Amino acid sequence: MKKIGIIGTGSYLPEKIMTNFDIEKFLDTTDEWIYTRTGIKERRVAEKDAATSDLCKIASERAMKMAGIKAADVDLIILATITPDTHCPAGANWLEAKLKCDNAVSFDVTAACSGFLFALHLADKLIRAGANKKVLVVAGEIMTRVVNWKERESCILWGDGAGAAIVTESQNGAEVLSTHIHTDGAGGDTLLMPGGGSKTTPISYESVDKGLHFLKMIEANKSFKVAVNRFAGACEEAAAANGYTISDVDLIIPHQANIRILQAMAKKLDVPMDKIYMTIEKYGNISSATVPIALDEAARNGTLKKDNLVVLSAFGGGLTWGSSLLRW
Ligand code: UT7
Repeated sequence: MKKIGIIGTGSYLPEKIMTNFDIEKFLDTTDEWIYTRTGIKERRVAEKDAATSDLCKIASERAMKMAGIKAADVDLIILATITPDTHCPAGANWLEAKLKCDNAVSFDVTAACSGFLFALHLADKLIRAGANKKVLVVAGEIMTRVVNWKERESCILWGDGAGAAIVTESQNGAEVLSTHIHTDGAGGDTLLMPGGGSKTTPISYESVDKGLHFLKMIEANKSFKVAVNRFAGACEEAAAANGYTISDVDLIIPHQANIRILQAMAKKLDVPMDKIYMTIEKYGNISSATVPIALDEAARNGTLKKDNLVVLSAFGGGLTWGSSLLRW
């Protein structure tokens, strides 16, 4: 059995910070409401002239540097995003060109907040099958450009950023013990971008007037309950697949959608909150990029110790959910 490892991680957060107090200035909301309902105090906003591939480029270069590899060594780039530079070509192709990964093939994965786990799953399976050797798994989003800044129940949640990992067959680095992904298309209408695809005329005066190009959350409090169950189930699945229980796990790095979802998940799993890595207060929800950003942060700030058992888990629009167990 091949040993698949994450040999480098990287992330990039834009410098510009938008606090809840900044949002108070143009929206009928308060810092108090946002913080107590979501756990978010501030989020990052991409530079005006930056596209998702620009954020991903910096995160990827940092991951390659940590891994000690060059752009030419990468033979596959999988970009998880719901905010690609363009829908055609894939966002991954713009990234490939910017990184000068001339020996790589590249494509996008669309799985909303679970995107990084879907991309990691693919990388793991392709390397195990012998199809690829060094895979750049990257997730990046500019969510602040696709939210409707007039929809107060959802726009306050999102932020921008990118995270990356280099995955390869290796005796070193964090071992990928297993990956698990799931979808439920019947729930797709709860978090979606209704316009921009073949269902409607991609862009028209009418679609723009109706705001169909914005991310839409329908009955967000219902998806809250589903999220708690799926998150907890995904964590348990990752542990059980490797003969462990959740109490054997040293750290859970979950997608960060709402602190109350994570508190409810911790309660359901019967784990203390200090076993759950948090970035929500400072970055909000960066969809697919949240998990790899948190992973990179935990790797670099010393939270992750050698041999730690780490669960990555996510739930998001689609519906999608997934997990992975790593031995650090
Ligand atoms: O990535 C996973 C995908 N899913 C999600 O991330 C969604 C998860 N859901 C959530 O995070 C929460 O449901 C929200 C944060 C979106 C909303 O929190 P909530 O506790 O479910 O609030 P609510 O929608 O039930 O609204 C409660 C009240 C309402 O007022 P009334 O009807 O009680 O008078 C809203 O109008 O809060 C009001 N409200 C706001 N007030 C101030 C909604 N948004 C705001 C706001 N500021 N931004």
